[in-house]
Amino acid sequence: MLTTEHVLEVFPGIDAITDRRLRQLSLDVWRYVSERNPTWSDIGRIPLHPTMPIATHGTLIAHVAAMARLAETLASLYRELWAQDLDLDTFRAAAYVHDAAKVIEFTDGPAGLQAIAGYNHAIEAGRIVRELGGPEAIAHMAEAHSFSGPLVMPRTRDAQLFLLMDPMCLNVVFERHLKANGWEPPPTLERYRPAR
Ligand SMILES: [Fe+2]
Repeated sequence: MLTTEHVLEVFPGIDAITDRRLRQLSLDVWRYVSERNPTWSDIGRIPLHPTMPIATHGTLIAHVAAMARLAETLASLYRELWAQDLDLDTFRAAAYVHDAAKVIEFTDGPAGLQAIAGYNHAIEAGRIVRELGGPEAIAHMAEAHSFSGPLVMPRTRDAQLFLLMDPMCLNVVFERHLKANGWEPPPTLERYRPAR
């Protein structure tokens, strides 16, 4: 099981969420996923994906922390350049919950780390946020945050921005998502370029 103390220890930024309900939501989502798969006791052992070893791609904790920090960076940028306010509480809570369903999706066993085939951690995160009574804005940011698997079209400014932030907080950016979806660059340019 993942304890609340552990979640707060690995994600100290949850304390920076000023809205009490969103702070609680961030913790509730991790408790929810941990109850579904109690085999995880240390979030620090969870990778981005079983095909992305921690030694090469870092931990899920680093990715989530990067999402929260990128939101803070973008919030001051948007305010300064366009006088637009991003709601930092919303972005922070979305960052802390958006990948939590990987606790359900991944299981570490004798055969190594396995992911449930066809499980969509993004759509599941959105569903969990709704089930826990969280704001629709955050549920939608969570369900539409991933380029892996079928894309849920982001319908709000915050969800569009959040979708673009996600691959920026990986050390392989979009490359991995293109491969995961079987999207290779079209070879036509090379094929039709006249020989020199
Ligand atoms: Fe993510």
